[in-house]
Amino acid sequence: MGDLGFVIAMAIIFSALNSNVIEGRSMMKSMHLSWGTQRSGFLQPSGVDDVTLLLDPVSGSGIQSKDQFLFGTLEMQIKLVPGDSAGTVTSFYVTVYANSVFSFINFFYRAKHNEIDFEFLGNVTGEPYIIHTNIYTQGAAGREVQFYPWFDPTKDYHNYTIRWTPSHVVWFVDHIPIRVYRNYLDDGIPYPDLDKPMRAYSSIWNADSWATRGGLDRINWSKAPFVAKLRKFRARACKFQGSTSVANCTAAAAAACTTSELGLDDQNQMELIRNKSLVYDYCQDYEKYLGLLPGECFQRQY
Ligand SMILES: *[C@@H]1O[C@H](CO)[C@@H](O)[C@H](O)[C@H]1NC(C)=O
Ligand SMILES: *[C@@H]1O[C@H](CO)[C@@H](O)[C@H](O)[C@H]1NC(C)=O
Ligand SMILES: *[C@@H]1O[C@H](CO)[C@@H](O)[C@H](O)[C@H]1NC(C)=O
Ligand SMILES: *[C@@H]1O[C@H](CO)[C@@H](O)[C@H](O)[C@H]1NC(C)=O
Ligand SMILES: *[C@@H]1O[C@H](CO)[C@@H](O)[C@H](O)[C@H]1NC(C)=O
Repeated sequence: MGDLGFVIAMAIIFSALNSNVIEGRSMMKSMHLSWGTQRSGFLQPSGVDDVTLLLDPVSGSGIQSKDQFLFGTLEMQIKLVPGDSAGTVTSFYVTVYANSVFSFINFFYRAKHNEIDFEFLGNVTGEPYIIHTNIYTQGAAGREVQFYPWFDPTKDYHNYTIRWTPSHVVWFVDHIPIRVYRNYLDDGIPYPDLDKPMRAYSSIWNADSWATRGGLDRINWSKAPFVAKLRKFRARACKFQGSTSVANCTAAAAAACTTSELGLDDQNQMELIRNKSLVYDYCQDYEKYLGLLPGECFQRQY
């Protein structure tokens, strides 16, 4: 490629990146309350950029991003419910939902849906939360990996980050990678659709039938309301603006890919966390899969 070709290519790459990347707008500008109790909402006294999500006997609550994205890094700072949080689940995830009036269309979307999750499973006072990660790829679920937090997630805000590119998905906690799911579509292993945008969501709800010690510890409603705090949603991501965005966002992700592979330091940090804090990995669950683990478990994970 000649110099001019190179300059033009770089200009296209940068315009693709610049026109689409959204960084750190206020929560109020980037998200809206999508469901739940009237008492949840945006708190903005003097420059504070917080969202309070409430769970009470009436309802849980949730927010969603106004924009849809195709690839990028999405981050939320979360301070989880303190004290007795058994039976509660707080989440930060990206997914695509159909909002059609035709329920069969919604049903189809759900059946084939893509989702990348952080879920925080509460516990009784003094016992540890579980950081539960999962991915739904074209409808295929059951790919859970869980960790105990190596800090008190209720005392302060921590960063929970989902990086989603055409080649892999990485979950980070405080900028430490804890899990990677690579694209092995060429080997017939499902991966989130490369042409479907997703929105970011955060919510709190009652999951006491399964969340804490498999449902043994139920929600103690006399402790309600349960409050999770969120702030500083950041999307260093490609904003989806219709079908032309597929090419633009894919180009932007390719242009950023030099920084998207995990370096040796990152791999080492991830191994340390896995050695220290791993609770469950579906790739080790021979019982569940009757010995037939999913294909990606036999591939390089990161
Ligand atoms: C979260 O990320 C922000 C921005 O990068 C950083 O300033 C802050 O120290 C991080 N918090 C933790 C607990 O790592
Ligand atoms: C809650 O605490 C118990 C006892 O320490 C532990 O076995 C469990 O993994 C913890 N977390 C959840 C979400 O159940
Ligand atoms: C629920 O919380 C109340 C108030 O703190 C406490 O008195 C009660 O023992 C708790 N119930 C259970 C089952 O832990
Ligand atoms: C996609 O990129 C082209 C240039 O490569 C630009 O002209 C166009 O406006 C971009 N479209 C969107 C939706 O960003
Ligand atoms: C993790 O544990 C394995 C097996 O015990 C060990 O070989 C490896 O060195 C550990 N990794 C780190 C980064 O500590």
